[in-house]
Amino acid sequence: MIAIDFVQPDGTREKIFTREGYTLMEAAVRSGVAGILAECGGSCACATCHVIVDPDWVETVGPPNTMEEQLLEMLDTRQAASRLGCQVKLKQAFDGLVVQVPAID
Ligand code: FES
Repeated sequence: MIAIDFVQPDGTREKIFTREGYTLMEAAVRSGVAGILAECGGSCACATCHVIVDPDWVETVGPPNTMEEQLLEMLDTRQAASRLGCQVKLKQAFDGLVVQVPAID
C-alpha cells in the first residue's frame, strides 16, 4: 500500500491509498482528488495532471522526462518541482509522498 497526500491550493490535505503500478494521475483520479482532471487520459498531452512535488520528495520522485518537460514549460504555474502525474509511475518507495495541486487559473 502506498499513501499519498495531495495538498490543495487552499491548504486542505487529502490522503489517498494506492499501490504500485498505477501512475500518480491514475491514483488521484480513482480517488476523486480535486484539480487532477487528466483530460488526455495519461498520454502526456494536456498537463491537467500537474502536481508540485514536496521538497522532501523531489529526489525520490526524480525529474521530468523530455516530453513531459516540454509540456511543463508551457505552464504559468510551473515550478522547479513540477511533474505531470501521468508520467510518475508509483513505486513502494513513494509511500508517504506529498504533492501539491496547483491552483487552476
Ligand atoms: S493526463 Fe494529460 S498530461 Fe497527464
